[in-house]
Amino acid sequence: MVVEDKKSQKTLLQNINSHPLDPLSLDEITKSILIVKSKESLGRELLFETIMLREPSKKEVLSFKPGDPFSRNVFVVVLNYKEEKLYELDITLDSEEIIRCEHIPNVQPAFMCGDLDMDFNDWENKIKHDSKLIEPLKKRGINNPDLLMIDPWPISNFGNKEEEGKRLAIGRCWVRKEPGDNAYARPIEGLSLILDLNKNVIVEVQDFGVVPIPPEDGNYSTKYQKEVRTDLKPIEITQPEGPSFVVNGNEVKWQKWSLRIGYTKREGLVLHTIGYEDGGSVRPIIYRAALSEMVVPYGDPTNDHYKKQVFDAGEVGIGRCANSLELGCDCLGEIRYFDVALFDMRGEATELKNAICMHEEDFGILWKHTDTRSGETETRRSRRLVISFIATVGNYEYGFYWYFYQDGGIEYEVKLTGIMNSSGIAPGVKPKNGTLVAPQVVAHNHQHHFNVRLDMMVDGLKNSVYEVDTITDPISDENIHGNAFSTKRTLIGKEKDAVRVVDPFAARYWSVTNNSSKNYLDEPVSYKIAPGENVLPFHHKEAVIMKRAAFMNGHMWVTPFKENEMYAAGDYPQQHPGGEGLPKWMSANRDLKDKDIVVWYTFGHNHIPRLEDWPVMPVAYTGFSIKPSGFFDRNPALDVPPSTKNCCSKDTHSCNC
Ligand code: CO
Repeated sequence: MVVEDKKSQKTLLQNINSHPLDPLSLDEITKSILIVKSKESLGRELLFETIMLREPSKKEVLSFKPGDPFSRNVFVVVLNYKEEKLYELDITLDSEEIIRCEHIPNVQPAFMCGDLDMDFNDWENKIKHDSKLIEPLKKRGINNPDLLMIDPWPISNFGNKEEEGKRLAIGRCWVRKEPGDNAYARPIEGLSLILDLNKNVIVEVQDFGVVPIPPEDGNYSTKYQKEVRTDLKPIEITQPEGPSFVVNGNEVKWQKWSLRIGYTKREGLVLHTIGYEDGGSVRPIIYRAALSEMVVPYGDPTNDHYKKQVFDAGEVGIGRCANSLELGCDCLGEIRYFDVALFDMRGEATELKNAICMHEEDFGILWKHTDTRSGETETRRSRRLVISFIATVGNYEYGFYWYFYQDGGIEYEVKLTGIMNSSGIAPGVKPKNGTLVAPQVVAHNHQHHFNVRLDMMVDGLKNSVYEVDTITDPISDENIHGNAFSTKRTLIGKEKDAVRVVDPFAARYWSVTNNSSKNYLDEPVSYKIAPGENVLPFHHKEAVIMKRAAFMNGHMWVTPFKENEMYAAGDYPQQHPGGEGLPKWMSANRDLKDKDIVVWYTFGHNHIPRLEDWPVMPVAYTGFSIKPSGFFDRNPALDVPPSTKNCCSKDTHSCNC
C-alpha cells in the first residue's frame, strides 16, 4: 500500500471518531499496541488477546453534545506466553499513558494459536508434522500428514491437577481425501491431541482405539456438484431512490429509530443508545445490547467427547471470527456495510472489510383492515431494518441479526449453519447420543445457548422488571362460566428471585417497566421481552458445564447495572472451573426495583442432528423479541404511508402479499 493511501485511510477513520462510543479506529489500536510494547517489564513475547474501547460512563455519554471534547480509554489484555503471565492494562490515549497494569493470576485468555513467528496455518502445520503423530496415523492407514486437519478445541476443566496453570487445548483431527475437499467427512475417531498453546507442542497423544475412517465424501461446494437446478428465475431487490436510512459516522437513523453501531472482538456487533422518536423527541429504550456469551455443550459420553463444550464468545472471540460479507450472497439489496478495526494476536491492527451488513427488508404486511360495509381497505407493508454479522467458528457458522420494525418492535435472531461437528463410529454401530449422518459418521446431540445482555433504559435509567403470566381465574360468583383468564404481574425485586425460566403454558413474558413514566392511560410504560423457541440443558446438575455455563440454567436474569459486569460466564471462561459471572454477582442479592437494571436473556437451541443437516446445514433459526407494551399510546405505525401500486408486476392487482 502506498503511503498516501495509508494516510487518507487514517484520516477517514479518525474523522469517524466523533462520539465517545465510537469503536477504536485502526490508528487508536496501533497506538495502544505501541504503548503496551513500550512497557519493558511485560517482556517481548506478548500476544494480544483484547484491545477494546473502555466505554465512558453513562453520565458522560448521555450528556454528550456534538463537538464536546471526550477522552479515549482502551482496555487491553496481553499474554506473555514465555513467562505464562496474563496482564490487564488500562490506557488513556490522550496522554498515551498506561494507567493500570495488573497481572491476573489463575486465568487463561481466549484462544490464540501460534506465537510471534507462527500464524495459525504455520501452527497447524507444525502440529501435523509432529513426530508423535507418525505411529498413531500409521495405525489408521494415514501416510500423508499434509491431508490432516486439526481443530483446536477448548479443554474445559474437569479438575485434572496436571492441567492446572497450563494453557491447553484439545486437537481434534480429520483427514482429507484430497486437498480442498470437506475434511469433516472423515473424522479420525479416537485420536485426541493435548496441546500446550504456550509452547506450541503436543503434550500427549490420547489414543482411545482405532475406528476405521468413514468411506464417503461429504462435499457441498459448487466444484463437486454434478449439476445445478436450471429453473430459478432472477429475483431483484431494487431501491431506485436509495435506502431510507441515514448514516452519520456510526450513528444510524431509520423510520424513527436511532442507534449507534459498535463492535468488539469478543462480542461482535454492539448496539448503543437505541431509541425511537415519539412526539418530537427520541425516547430511549436500550442503552447497550450485545451477545454476552454463548456455549455449545455436547451430549455424548464416549472417548473424550464429554469435554466438548465451547464458549464461542469468551473462549474464541465471536467478533474476531466475522466474515467479510459479499453483496448478493450474504446480503441482498441496497446494502450499507461497515468495516471494523481489529488486531491480530501478534499486535498488528487489522481491518475487516464489510464485517457488518445493514439493509432494509420488505417484511410482508404491517397492518390491514377491510371495512366490509364500505369495501374500503387500508393496508400497510412492513419494512424492517436489518443489522447483522456472520462468524465462522471452526466447522460452524453463526449469523447474528438485529431487526428493527416500524411499530417499535425489535427482534434478535441467530441463524445457525455450517458443518456439524462430526465424529467417527465403527461400521454397523448405531449411536445412542447422536445421529448417523453418513456411513460411520455421527453428529452428536448438542445445544447452542446464547446470552444477550440488554442494558435497558425504557424512558430513562430507572426501570423494574415484572414477570407476567396468564392465569385461569377461579370459578366464583364473578366467573360462573369458567371462561375468565387474566394476567398476573410479579415484580422481580431482588436478585435472589431474578433467575427465571420460560413457561409457554403461562404465556410468560417479562415486562421492563418505567414506573415514573406514564402512558396516556396513566399506566407505567414498558417494553416486554417475549421468548421465542427455548430449552433448558439436559445435563445433570452435577455436570461440569452446569457450573461453567450457569447462564444456561435460567432464561431471564436481572442485575443492577455495574460497569464491569459484562459477560454472563465471567471474564475468562477458558479452562475456568465455573462459578464466575451471573451467579457470583447475584449472590449479593441486590435491589432491582426502580434501578438502572440489566437484563440477560438466554435462549437455547436444541440440536438433534438430522440427515438433512449433512454435509452442510440448512439454516436453523432461533431468537426472541423486545416489543413495546404500553410504551406508545396506540399503534405507532399509523403514519406509515400506503404503498404505491407500481411496486407490483403487471399481473398483480394488489400489494397485500
Ligand atoms: Co447445532
